[in-house]
Amino acid sequence: MNRKVTKIGVLTSGGDAPGMNAAIRAVVRTGIYKGLEVYGIMRGYSGMIDGDIFKMESQSVANIIQRGGTVLKTARCKEFFTSEGRKIAYDNLKKHGINGLVIIGGDGSFRGANIFSQEHDIPCIGLPGTIDKDIAGTDFTIGFDTAVNTAVEAIDKVRDTADAHDRLFIIEVMGRDSGYIALHSGIATGAENILIPERKTDIENVIKTLLEKHGRKKLVNIIVVAEGEEFGATELSKIITERIPDQEVRVCILGHIQRGGSPTCFDRLIASRMGYAAVECLLENRFNVFVGIINNKTHYTPLDLAVKKKQKINEEWMKIVRILSS
Ligand code: F6P
Repeated sequence: MNRKVTKIGVLTSGGDAPGMNAAIRAVVRTGIYKGLEVYGIMRGYSGMIDGDIFKMESQSVANIIQRGGTVLKTARCKEFFTSEGRKIAYDNLKKHGINGLVIIGGDGSFRGANIFSQEHDIPCIGLPGTIDKDIAGTDFTIGFDTAVNTAVEAIDKVRDTADAHDRLFIIEVMGRDSGYIALHSGIATGAENILIPERKTDIENVIKTLLEKHGRKKLVNIIVVAEGEEFGATELSKIITERIPDQEVRVCILGHIQRGGSPTCFDRLIASRMGYAAVECLLENRFNVFVGIINNKTHYTPLDLAVKKKQKINEEWMKIVRILSS
């Protein structure tokens, strides 16, 4: 059935990611260009439930493409997991006549959108916004490139001080269930080891490699650890200190620094392309999908298939880490 979408809502949900503002801007400006009314929804699904919804103009998104965070703010909303919460949200959309939604967020936000669209017959389009890059159906997510570059800049700085003191640093990067930030930033900074949740950590091997390096006086070592790795940076530091007492060890947790800051050119670009494509989807009745980019081409995945990407570790990448860090 052909349906005419005339008024759309846009929101950001889950953890913020640099480039979300560029995506909002693209949705608003494309929507207005195509003759739609566009409404901003504050604080993700929470704002939908609270009725915190306002009409946006082209000017509303002026001067935001370069800004981190999200002008619409974001939240992780428990109430939206209940059908009562979703009904209130739907009624609030209806008050404004909104008949299409664009959700910028991660896989959890997409799952919420999928249930909502099925229950209330509102077409929803997702845009992958997460620094973790852990969604199947796209090569990149909005925010990943910026986060990884932030991590690289920070790790380079840590290496300076590690080098000055002949220390081993364990640097924890973000990624609750996913090692992409660790893998990319670790390779790009010449890390001596990279530990990620998708791969079981062989602690004996970590120690053996360090002892071997210690034996030949290679005392400066950087181990990049993803947040979700089984031991965690602090525990690893304890184990290494116990087993190699004369190796100085320090822990550095990069944390939320990786979520902020001005988006890179790449993130602004994919956010702009995806935002534009989201509006096109609504106008072309290509409903309940999320927009990704695969091999530099726009790619659509049904929202009900939106799943966390379980990274298959390319053994060659790990081999490269070992060879280049010797
Ligand atoms: O958005 C993804 C992420 O940054 C994860 O890498 C991290 O585990 C999580 O969000 C942290 O969430 P919060 O800011 O809610 O503590």
